[in-house]
Parts: sequence; structure tokens; C-alpha cells
Amino acid sequence: MTDVQSQSHADRVYDWWSRHPGLFDLFATAAFFGRYRSLRRMAVDRLGLERGDRVLDLACGTGPNFPLLVEAVGSGGTVVGLDHSRGMAVAALQRAHEAGDESLRVARADAGALPLPDDAMDAALCTLSLSAIPDHLAAIQELRRVVRPGGRVVVLDAQPYQSGPIRVFNPLVNRVSALATNWYPDRHLPTDLRAAFGADRVDVDCHNGGTAFVATVRVPESL
Ligand SMILES: C[S@@+](CC[C@H](N)C(=O)[O-])C[C@H]1O[C@@H](n2cnc3c(N)ncnc32)[C@H](O)[C@@H]1O
Repeated sequence: MTDVQSQSHADRVYDWWSRHPGLFDLFATAAFFGRYRSLRRMAVDRLGLERGDRVLDLACGTGPNFPLLVEAVGSGGTVVGLDHSRGMAVAALQRAHEAGDESLRVARADAGALPLPDDAMDAALCTLSLSAIPDHLAAIQELRRVVRPGGRVVVLDAQPYQSGPIRVFNPLVNRVSALATNWYPDRHLPTDLRAAFGADRVDVDCHNGGTAFVATVRVPESL
């Protein structure tokens, strides 16, 4: 029996990746055809952050988004990084400590039960994670709860090839990615975001032949 695609599998694989951050970078660079960093920057830009904003980095991993987020919100802002893997949370904490930036806060937490009050954040970012979190619908509900009306949520994620002959590789890629990253390739995250926030509140643009996308949610003033 296998528990691939469960929270315990996710925690195990990400504890392992947290000890091999260089390898994870290589894996992600290959998976995103070398556009891993530029897509990250694009996702942060889509948040439209202003100085002094409070932004959540959900399932932050080792914290690769932190420098971009800290730069965007400035010294009066707040960046909260949360992750469920103990190894990832410790690595992110270490990165925050080394950065010595007062605006960074890191904790271990479940995306489905965030330790934040309602409307506590101006924006939230979730990169490469919503497709790996076992209960992603609970995570989306939590994003909806903690981001204030009028705020923004941006999701950068991957999906299998949607068309063309290269789709023949999907079964192999999906299986390897499920094992290596707890990936759930059958999800359609833009549909789930639209169901939670409203169809007209979510813009999606695709990259890398449709295998990467950035979804920008403009949280309604009243939900
Ligand atoms: C592929 S990594 C992405 C990390 C980081 N956001 C990045 O862009 O590199 C997916 C992350 O989701 C986290 N994760 C999985 N399940 C979670 C949950 N229930 N709550 C919070 N984080 C979770 C994993 O621990 C892992 O750090």
C-alpha cells in the first residue's frame, strides 16, 4: 500500500527536499524550462504590493520568494511565510534569520487551518504549492478568509501538457512528480479558484506551452 498523495507523504518528501535545496532548484528549473525565477518574479509583480502591505507566502518552502516580497513591502510591511513541512519551516526560518529583516515572520502551519485572523493580510502568494497540498480546497477557503476584501491572491503553478503530441509523456511525468513532489496533476486550480472567489475575479495566463500558469485573484470587496 502506498500513501503517495497524502499529507504524510508531502511532509516526508518536503523534509527531504529541505535538506537538498540546490537539487530542488535544479528540479524546478527543469520543470519550468529555465523560467523558474522569471515566473516567480512575474507572480510577485501580479500581487501589486505597496509599501507597508502585509503579505502571506503560503507553503513558502525554504523561502525563495522572501527577497522579492520583502523588497516590495519595504521596512514597514510584513511578510508571513508558512509551511507544513518541519524541514521547510526550519530552512525558511533560517533564511529569515540570516536576512535579519524585521518584516519577515515564519512558522509551521497547515494551509487548511491558518493561524491568522480573518482579513489579516492585504495579499497572498502561493507558488508551486497548491498542486501539492493534499486538501487544496481547504487551503483556498483559508486564503479567502485571511485576505481582506479588495486584496489579491496570486497562484503560480504547473499543470500537465494540455494539448499536442507531447501529451504522450503526461502519465510518466505525472507519476514521477506525484512521487517526488506530491503533485496532484488532475486538479484544475483556476476552476477551483473561480468557484471560491467568483468567475470574473480570476485572470489566468499560461506559459511554457501551457504547463505553467499564473492565476491572479482580485478578492471582491464583499464576499
Ligand atoms: C513544491 S514546494 C514549493 C515551495 C515554495 N512555495 C516554492 O515556490 O519553492 C510545495 C510546498 O508545499 C508545502 N505543503 C504541502 N502541504 C502543505 C500544507 N498542508 N500546508 C502548508 N504547506 C504545505 C510543502 O511542505 C512544500 O514546502
